[in-house]
Order: sequence, then structure tokens, then C-alpha cells
Amino acid sequence: MSDPTSFSDPPPVPSAPDAIAVKRVCLLTGGGDAPGLNAVIRGFVRRADQLGIEVYGSEDGFEGLVEPGRLVRLRRESVRGILPRGGSILGCSNRANPFFYPQRGTKETRDASATVVQRLRDHHIDALVMAGGDGTMSFAQRFITLGVPCIGVPKTIDNDLDATDLTFGFDTAVHTATWAIDALHSTAASHDRVMILEVMGRGAGWIALCSGIAGGADVILLPEMPYEVDRIVAKIQERERYGLHFTIIVVAEGARPAGGDISVIEQGQAGHLPRLGGAGDRLMAELKARDVQHEMRVTVLGHLQRGGSPSPYDRVLGTRMGAHAADLCARGAFGRMVCLRGTTLRSVPLSEAIDKPKLVDPAGQLVHTARSVGIELGC
Ligand code: F6P
Repeated sequence: MSDPTSFSDPPPVPSAPDAIAVKRVCLLTGGGDAPGLNAVIRGFVRRADQLGIEVYGSEDGFEGLVEPGRLVRLRRESVRGILPRGGSILGCSNRANPFFYPQRGTKETRDASATVVQRLRDHHIDALVMAGGDGTMSFAQRFITLGVPCIGVPKTIDNDLDATDLTFGFDTAVHTATWAIDALHSTAASHDRVMILEVMGRGAGWIALCSGIAGGADVILLPEMPYEVDRIVAKIQERERYGLHFTIIVVAEGARPAGGDISVIEQGQAGHLPRLGGAGDRLMAELKARDVQHEMRVTVLGHLQRGGSPSPYDRVLGTRMGAHAADLCARGAFGRMVCLRGTTLRSVPLSEAIDKPKLVDPAGQLVHTARSVGIELGC
């Protein structure tokens, strides 16, 4: 048997209709949204339609498979005109963890995985396709052990899954953050201010690093590289000596000072990650405590990075990944996640998909590039 990881793009699929491995599949978009999800849905539905596979969509992630009446039939007409739209036409939920499913009106959770399996059986659904981040991919792995054939499509604006070179949503998020840095430059220069822009990135600083380089930031602080405040103060002073009275700092939400902790605004609960926030404000307080005389302002870009129309790149990548997932279904290549390697779409076993986060390498080329154009990284 040939190695399914060596699939070309697109993978060979059976030509005879009766050789197609599935008749009916369910698609869901789990976790937080990311620009490009609708391109995935559209690509999947259109390719599945060509292959004669019926598609159902589960509304709001796993909610549609736990609650009755929340599965919708997705046809070609259902996905018309959705490429430019942000979000997901199916809705997303990062509360609908099927293994710690919230009990309505209480703080309790229950294991709803058996309900999900039963619902799939009741609707004669052969396989489950999940677009999501590492959390959703780990659910996929658990459902495989419960006898449900699953396929994953990686989704995260943070671009922090090691098994794929890129995830859709990242390019749009970097565009938005770069636009924000560009906009902050003019007001920073007019007022001689230190401007701090807090961007998303819990454990991986890709958005901060890429937008910071693209926008010409003076300082970039990443979760992977705990920072020394003194180095940032020195950078502000150095700029002053050159007659540059403003400084632009990009800080990832997961960045922290050396010896300090990540800034959390809401503790995590069973099956849910803590909510991060406050990295920018903390940095401003640290700079004030070091007697930086400039006026300072903090901008938290927040969910603007997740919203809005996807970039053309993310629409293309989403379309490719959605169509590829349908081909994997047709071929019966379950237990795998679609991924991009170089410019080619492939797939990896789901176990590899959640094995390892993709973090910025402090000794890597991109950090080197940042340093070589004079950007201060805090360490
Ligand atoms: O996983 C992507 C991400 O954008 C993180 O960087 C961020 O911490 C998180 O989502 C915020 O998610 P929400 O506020 O929707 O729970």
C-alpha cells in the first residue's frame, strides 16, 4: 500500500462512484473562528458534491451534534457567496467540548461523547470532518477510539501547529496587525509617544513577529523569549539619541518578563484554557516604573485579528484544505489531518498533528532577520 502522506495534491480518489468510501459526512468548525473557515466549508461541500458525498453541517461546533435539531444539510447552494465572509456560516464554539459539555443553567459539565456518536448513527453519517485547532484535533483522536472515522483540517490564526507549515487565518491576522502598526506610527510620531500594541499569540509569537517586521516595529516581544525591561528602556533611549522621539512596541498576549508569569485575566476551567490579557498594560507599568518619560498608550488589537474578510491567500488555502479533506473522505483516509508542506497539500496522522506546537525559534532565521534590521526582542 502506498504511504498516504505522499499524496499529491489532489490525492487520487476512486473514479467509480461505488468505490467512494463514504456516502454521508458531517462537517463542523470547532474552537474559535479564523478567517478562511468559510472557504474550507465551501471547498469541502463543492468537492464532496462532485464526488457524490452528502454533507451535513453541525452548528456551533459540537453543539450541533449534542443538541437535537442542529444538523443542517449543506448543498452547493448553501455555500454560495461565502468566500469573502469572515467567521463560519456554521458558527463556532469553544465552550462545546464534547467530553466536558456544559450543563445548561449550572457550572457542571458532563461527558456528551456518547450522544455525539449516537447522533451520527441516527443520521447515518459515516465520518466526521472537523476544522479546528489543537483542542479540536485532540477530540478527533478521541472520537476515533470511539469508532468514529475522523478527518481534521487545521485552523488557528496563531499558526502554531507544527504538523503544517501554515494555517489559514494567519495571513489575514498578520495583515490586520500590520495595518494597526502602520496606523499607530503616524499618531506615535505626532505625539512623541511610546505606543504598545498587544496582539494575539498565546504560546507562539508568529503574529507579533511577522506583523512587527512587516510594520517596522522597534521592539517585538514574544512568548518564546522572556524579556528584560532594561533592554526596552535602552532601545527607547537609543532612539531618542537619534532624534526619534517615538517608539512602537508589539507585544504578544503570551509574552512575559524574564522570571515573570503570563498575564491571565480569567483562569481556565475543565477543558478550557485560561483567557490571556494585560501583557501590554503590564509592560507600560514596567516602563513607567523605570522612569520612561514619554507618554505611553496601549492598544489591544484583540478579536479584530480574528474577524473580517479573509485575505486572498487564506481563501485559497482554505479552499484547498476543504477540497483536500473531501478527497481524503472519498479515499477513506481517516485518522488524518490535512496539512501544507512547502506548497503541497498532504496529510499527517492526527496523533502527529497535536504532538508538538510550532513555536518561534529564538535562534531561527526570522528572529535573526528581526535583529539584523535593528529590532529589539527584549533578550
Ligand atoms: O487560538 C487563537 C486565539 O486567537 C488566541 O491567540 C487567543 O488567546 C484566543 O484565540 C482568544 O480566544 P477567545 O477570546 O475567543 O476565547
